[in-house]
Amino acid sequence: MTRETAGVAGDPGGPEVLVLPGPAEVGFAAAERIVEAVVPAIELRGRADVATTGGSTPAAIYRALVSDELRGLVPWASLHLWFGDDRFVARHHADSNVGPVDAILFGRDGGPGSPLPHPNVHPWPVDATLAAGGTAADCAAAYEAEMRASLATDAAGRPRLDVVLVGIGPDGHLLSVFPGSRAFDAPGWTTAVPAPSHVGPHVDRVTCTPGILDAAGSLLVVAHGAAKAAIVARILAGPRDERALPAQRARRAGATWLLDTAAAAGLSTGTGSR
Ligand code: 6PG
Repeated sequence: MTRETAGVAGDPGGPEVLVLPGPAEVGFAAAERIVEAVVPAIELRGRADVATTGGSTPAAIYRALVSDELRGLVPWASLHLWFGDDRFVARHHADSNVGPVDAILFGRDGGPGSPLPHPNVHPWPVDATLAAGGTAADCAAAYEAEMRASLATDAAGRPRLDVVLVGIGPDGHLLSVFPGSRAFDAPGWTTAVPAPSHVGPHVDRVTCTPGILDAAGSLLVVAHGAAKAAIVARILAGPRDERALPAQRARRAGATWLLDTAAAAGLSTGTGSR
């Protein structure tokens, strides 16, 4: 696969930017980066913890992970999958971020699936919360308790995830941290977010707070399509204002942005090939 490695002109010390032809190539490259991160983590500590995302980008990544090229390289039994955020809906609801995991990684779409153990997938406890008549805030608190019981922390007390995968919203959000979000000031690892009116789906959310981005062993940002070109350019090349553009929290050294040509169209990148 021909890849262009790039930085953004005028942003030295910023993230690595990979520009690939289209969504399938972006998904495969992201899957390769996930494998490259989890294999040494498992060799070192016997498990790897990955936080995935919602939206349109994960499906191609999951399909790449279960592909003949990569499935044999993934240490499935020791891989744990978390969710950086979710919609406050039941797992079977079409808006749930667990849906693509159930479909592709567990083969409910009729595809090959994977040997990922079901207990290794850690969804937000929405179903249990709803059954108990609880709120999104209850759900967020329960997830934080599960995370704290399972995940190592860094020196600053933030969860140490081996990989955090995020997409970029049309308004520059990531996770469910929207422009002006109170999530920036939330004291813990998770918080509840009222249904956004400006982007869909218009349902309450539960989200990790931005701190998980800082402690990630590998921070992968994925975006594709011409509709994202302008916002990606603002995030990566425009003035920094993280509360206005939460995705700028991932505009940092150590992060890798995986873009297709269409989403990168607004960037003037210094590119090389390898
Ligand atoms: C969600 C995601 C959200 C998503 C972005 C990008 O629950 O919707 O976590 O942060 O990644 O909105 O979504 P698209 O890539 O589909 O535009």
